Amino acid sequence: MRIIMLGPPGAGKGTQARKLSEEFNIHQISTGDIFRKAVQESTPMGIRAKEYMDKGQLVPDEIVVGIVEERLKQPDLAKGFILDGFPRTISQAESLEQILHNSGTKLNAVINIQVPRDELIERFTGRRVCNSCGASYHVKYNPPRITGKCDICGKQLVIRPDDELETVKKRLEEYEQKTTPLIEFYRSRHLLINIDGEKSIDEVFQEIVDRLRGGKK
Ligand code: AP5
Ligand code: MG
Ligand code: ZN
Repeated sequence: MRIIMLGPPGAGKGTQARKLSEEFNIHQISTGDIFRKAVQESTPMGIRAKEYMDKGQLVPDEIVVGIVEERLKQPDLAKGFILDGFPRTISQAESLEQILHNSGTKLNAVINIQVPRDELIERFTGRRVCNSCGASYHVKYNPPRITGKCDICGKQLVIRPDDELETVKKRLEEYEQKTTPLIEFYRSRHLLINIDGEKSIDEVFQEIVDRLRGGKK
């Protein structure tokens, strides 16, 4: 199964992609996580990406597409993948189409998680993340078992640097301008599945699984 997670920053793409990756036994590819790791390791790509991420802007297409193209060539993705946070511009979506076409594969579905803006702000404010394994929590909606510690690897949880309010506003603006055209792009390809992302994490998950299994669009 080859799936894309679409939706505004904070909608729950990462949270759901993780759960779907377990459910369907396929890998999650999060471009945000790839960049954060590169930033931590201060690789040349990380240093370039950080300039944009800190400002809440999208990283330029040519950097992102190259990374995804390399990742999609890896043999562990033969069974499929969940793209979380990619594509985010029409140009990225067209590149992805070309990459998949060249490898003789196709997307199965694009999950569009819809959440109103006020609720998104609430989610950023409470988000805590694990820099070690990438897990994401929320102080109220999805707290870790032990306050401040990752359930999976036990590391200290931190606030993501780009979750600061001014940066969040810019990220939402970038989403509105550059990413929302993808909704029509995938609707016209009959791949779009709209999901009400305002429900609880488990309810949203169940709805996605049902829609994917039922094959409904
Ligand atoms: P990225 O890491 O992808 O950030 P984002 O898209 O802004 O999305 P988030 O990770 O903030 O939100 P999410 O939808 O994953 O929500 P989450 O599950 O964590 O990108 C970061 C940056 O990298 C970008 O700004 C850009 O600079 C760069 N970048 C990455 N990809 C790029 C690309 N393709 N092109 C160019 N640049 C790129 O959930 C959020 C919170 O809500 C959590 O606390 C969670 O516990 C909670 N929550 C989740 N679901 C629910 C629910 N149903 N109810 C209550 N709480 C919930
Ligand atoms: Mg995410
Ligand atoms: Zn962890």
